[in-house]
Amino acid sequence: MVAPMAGGPSTPELAAAGSNAGALGFVAAGYLSAESLAERLTAARRLTAGPVGVNLFVPQPSAALPADIERYARDLSGEAQRYRVSLGEPRFDDDGWAAKLGVVLDLRPQVVSFTFGLPSPGECARLRAAGITTVGTVTTVAEAGAAVSCGVDALVVQGPAAGGHRGTFDPAAPPAGAPLHELLRSVLTETDLPVVAAGGLMTAEDIATVREAGVVAAQLGTAFLLADEAGSTPVHRAALRDPQFTETVVTRAFSGRYARGLRNRFITEHDGQAPLGYPEVHYLTSPVRAASVRSGDPQATNVWAGTGFRAARTAPAADIIGALV
Ligand SMILES: Cc1cc2nc3c(=O)[nH]c(=O)nc-3n(C[C@H](O)[C@H](O)[C@H](O)COP(=O)(O)O)c2cc1C
Repeated sequence: MVAPMAGGPSTPELAAAGSNAGALGFVAAGYLSAESLAERLTAARRLTAGPVGVNLFVPQPSAALPADIERYARDLSGEAQRYRVSLGEPRFDDDGWAAKLGVVLDLRPQVVSFTFGLPSPGECARLRAAGITTVGTVTTVAEAGAAVSCGVDALVVQGPAAGGHRGTFDPAAPPAGAPLHELLRSVLTETDLPVVAAGGLMTAEDIATVREAGVVAAQLGTAFLLADEAGSTPVHRAALRDPQFTETVVTRAFSGRYARGLRNRFITEHDGQAPLGYPEVHYLTSPVRAASVRSGDPQATNVWAGTGFRAARTAPAADIIGALV
């Protein structure tokens, strides 16, 4: 599975190229309007006769405390000055959950996966009744149990090496978790549902290992960040190949929610100060991140990547998939 990657990398072209090459491609609905989601799903379908998935952010109550957000805004005032922008309004929203659910019920992609939580059992049943295969992303055995009870058809088990936001249901859950193989073993003994492995998988050997553990598929994100069809920004692409970036870390500095990316100046200077509070912190830092990208500077934007980023290749998605099977 070509992982859903919201915020730019997932394009209709990447989703379709994945499906055309025999994988499953995704349209990442996170941050998009419902209208853009419908457009992108329609565009992906024009480019492939294969199945297409949609990934939705499940809204969670925010952990943000106004005083902490105000303090972080003061900590970030130097960044705003440096990039000549004002900080964003730290507002809460639910990422357009109801409207996006309406779009998928209308347009009926073959697969809908969720991250940051689960739909209600009623919503899950409506999706299934519409002929849509539902997939819950889980990061612990407890989350896997909740996903099974909710009635999903399959699980993505996301290990701690994964790039981007951790799919944890509880945004305050500590970022370190059991390694992928341990987590897979525990989840596979608890459920008969098909399980997909994700997190740090970059090579055919990595995929063979998780297949031997009993999963039906592997979901790879970082391996496709440099794909020709990906919408990764030039700054993101250059940073992934830049020898000055030597490690990834899990941080809440950019969005108020734990996510893995290349360690850059912003993380080094602000990780210790950043409060929990998604999506408020995401909106607060957004103008600084955008200005950093506009000026070609990788030091104040979120360069999401998994631990295996050194193995990412620049090539058409079909060639990347060819090398993985
Ligand atoms: C840039 C980026 C954006 C991501 N966005 C999403 C997303 O919108 N929804 C989601 O479920 N997972 C998202 N993820 C996580 C991936 O779906 C997947 O779990 C992860 O990439 C697997 O680990 P890997 O990056 O080591 O392959 C994202 C990952 C990256 C690198």
